[in-house]
Amino acid sequence: MVTGAAKRLGRAIAERLADEGVHVVLHYHRSRKAAEEASASVSARGVNAWTMAADLGRPEEAEGLADRAWECSGGFSILVNSASIFGKGRLADAPYESFLRHLTVNAWAPLALARAFARKAGAGQIVNLLDARVGGYNFTHAAYFMSKRTLEYITRHLALDLAPDFRVNAVAPGLILPPEGEGPEYLDRLTETVPLKTHGEPADVADAVVCLLKSGFVTGQTLYVDGGRHLRD
Ligand SMILES: NC(=O)c1ccc[n+]([C@@H]2O[C@H](COP(=O)([O-])OP(=O)(O)OC[C@H]3O[C@@H](n4cnc5c(N)ncnc54)[C@H](OP(=O)(O)O)[C@@H]3O)[C@@H](O)[C@H]2O)c1
Repeated sequence: MVTGAAKRLGRAIAERLADEGVHVVLHYHRSRKAAEEASASVSARGVNAWTMAADLGRPEEAEGLADRAWECSGGFSILVNSASIFGKGRLADAPYESFLRHLTVNAWAPLALARAFARKAGAGQIVNLLDARVGGYNFTHAAYFMSKRTLEYITRHLALDLAPDFRVNAVAPGLILPPEGEGPEYLDRLTETVPLKTHGEPADVADAVVCLLKSGFVTGQTLYVDGGRHLRD
């Protein structure tokens, strides 16, 4: 199952998994039409695809999603937590609701899904999507970065808790796609901050997910896909 799979990186990961012969449950929240298009693209690769809606900002929906996905697909062995929100706000003045919402969608939901999945599956793999700047500070998206840092901690903790039956890793993308509402000039403006002086593509992130899934002796690891940007934080 891939969460947030209707569009952008989540869709690229779902399609890349399909290219590897993996059947995919595509979770979405609001983007039903896009999820159906992504599902068609996945099944055109010769695997089964299912779409499933859930609001991961509601703890009870996050808790129930793994069971629902399990029932509709007949069981799954890989969970990719890609769904996320990326709200603006400084640490000095971000309201409580914003912190709570970022923590709920970006950290609590991946944990709730991972636990429910682990109970059902008995063995498998989890990949969480972080952010390449998770080790540093971001003054304009404070709640987002706190939630991603929490998810990094959850990744490492679960890697120990769920071993030896599960491997739990993370991919930390850097400059890949502009946030919703921003155009390509957003990427052009920021490539100067990237040591490799370019931005990545969704396929780079999907490749990293597959690389971790295939690396049988790797757990608790974060793979940065950021042209070296994290080295500067
Ligand atoms: N894009 C980048 O360059 C970049 C850089 C650094 C890190 N990342 C990380 O990589 C992952 C994927 O990035 P992205 O740009 O593809 O993400 P995104 O477009 O910002 O969000 C992915 C999906 O999350 C879903 N989502 C949002 N709120 C939700 C909620 N309450 N319940 C359930 N789903 C919800 C949305 O689904 P619906 O559309 O169906 O509502 C959305 O399509 C994220 O975890 C992001 O933080 C991305």
